[in-house]
Amino acid sequence: MDKEYKIAVIGLGYVGLPLAIAFSEHFESIGYDINVDRINTLNNSVDTNGDIQFIKNDNILFTNNLSDLSYANIYIVTVPTPVNPNNTPDLTLIESASSMIADMLNKDDIIIYESTFFPGVTEDICVPILEKRSGLRYNKDFYCGYSPERISPGDNQYRLNDIVKITSGSNTEIANKIDNLYKKIIKAGTYKAPSIQVAESAKLVENIQRDVNIALMNELAMMFDNMGIDTLQVLSAARTKWNFLDFKPGLVGGHCIGVDPYYLISKSEKSGYKPSLLYSSREINNHVASFIVNKTIKLMYEEGKSTEGSNILILGYTFKENCSDKRNSKVRDIEMGLKSHSCIVKIFDPYISPSASNNFISTPFEQDIKYDAIIVAVAHNEFFKYSIDDFSRISRGNLVFLD
Ligand SMILES: NC(=O)c1ccc[n+]([C@@H]2O[C@H](COP(=O)([O-])OP(=O)(O)OC[C@H]3O[C@@H](n4cnc5c(N)ncnc54)[C@H](O)[C@@H]3O)[C@@H](O)[C@H]2O)c1
Repeated sequence: MDKEYKIAVIGLGYVGLPLAIAFSEHFESIGYDINVDRINTLNNSVDTNGDIQFIKNDNILFTNNLSDLSYANIYIVTVPTPVNPNNTPDLTLIESASSMIADMLNKDDIIIYESTFFPGVTEDICVPILEKRSGLRYNKDFYCGYSPERISPGDNQYRLNDIVKITSGSNTEIANKIDNLYKKIIKAGTYKAPSIQVAESAKLVENIQRDVNIALMNELAMMFDNMGIDTLQVLSAARTKWNFLDFKPGLVGGHCIGVDPYYLISKSEKSGYKPSLLYSSREINNHVASFIVNKTIKLMYEEGKSTEGSNILILGYTFKENCSDKRNSKVRDIEMGLKSHSCIVKIFDPYISPSASNNFISTPFEQDIKYDAIIVAVAHNEFFKYSIDDFSRISRGNLVFLD
C-alpha cells in the first residue's frame, strides 16, 4: 500500500465508484457521497446502478460524513454537471462540492476534477471558490488538475482500466504527480495534456464529434424517408468504402452526448463565436423523437388506424443500448408525444423493472393486448432475437413497425 496519498473521491456515481474502487487497490481511499442510500448500499458491496460488481475492501471507506475527509490529501471530484432547462451549464453541484472541499483543505493538497467541464471551469470557477473559502493560495498552498472521464455506461469492452486517461495539472510538477497517480490504476496508460484547459476541451470534442456525426446521419435518415428510400440500405452500401465513418441514425439522450455540446456552445458564445454546426446538430438530434411520433401516426393512418385509444408498444427506454441508465432518455419524448395523440403506450425494457411505472410491462409477448404500432426505440441485444413474425402475432390488424 502506497502511503504517500490518501485519496477522497467526491461523488460515487457511474464515474466515481469504479474510480474509488480502483484507487483503493493502491492507496487508502475514501468514497464520499451526499446520498445516504448510496453509501448504505455501497457498504454492502452493491452498485444499484448495475454498472459494476465489486467486493468492498478494507482500504476504502464509503461515507457521507464530512469529517472523514479531513485526512485526505488528494480530492477527486466526480459530481454531475447537467444543463439548466434553457440548456446552459448548471455548475451548482460542482460549486458546492468545491466549497465543501475548501472547508477541509490543507496545505499541499491536490484537487483533481473529473466531471465534464467547459474550458476554464477548473481555474476560473472552482479555483476562486477554493481560494476564497480556504484562505489558501492556488499553486502555492494547494494545486489542481483535470482528468476527464471517458467511460461509457454499458460498454463492457472499454472499462476504466482500458481507456487511456488524459491528465493535466496546475504546474509541471503537479501534472507529473497526477499523471503518475493515474498510471497506477490505468492499464491502458495516460496522456499528459499540456494544460488543464486542453484537457477540459478534449473531453468535449470527443462527445461533440459523436453528436455532430449522429446528427448528420439523422438528417440523412429524415431526408431519405421523405424520398421513400431505406436509409439503412443506403448506409450498408456506403459503409463498403474504406474510409466511411460508421455512425448510425438514432436518438441522442443521456447525460454526456446530449449535454456536453451545450457546455462548449455556452463558453464559445461568451467568447464571441456562435457555433452554428454544434447548434444545428443539437436541434436535429433533439427533433428525432417527434419525427418518430409523426412517422408512427402517419403509418397508422395509412393502415386505417386511428390514434385515439390505440395501443402502442415501445421496446427500449434507456438512453442507450445494453445498459440500465435512463437519464435524459429521449424515449420519454416519444412516449409523451404519442400520449398527446391519445395513444395508450406500453413499454418493455429488459433493463428496467416493470414496477418502475404501470406503463412498463414484463414481457412484450405474453399479454392479451394487441398493438396498433410497435416501435423499437433502443437497440438492446435482446431485441435482435425477435422476428417480424413475433411482432405480427401481437399486432392488431396490419403490423405498423418502426426501428
Ligand atoms: N456516466 C458516464 O458514463 C460519464 C462518462 C464520462 C463523464 N461523465 C461525467 O462525470 C460526471 C459524473 O457523472 P456520473 O454519471 O458519475 O453522475 P452520477 O449521477 O452517476 O453520480 C454522481 C454522484 O455524485 C453525488 N453528488 C452530487 N453532489 C455531491 C456533492 N456535493 N458531494 C458528494 N457527492 C455528490 C450524487 O449523489 C451521485 O451519487 C459528470 O460531469 C458527467 O458528465 C460521466
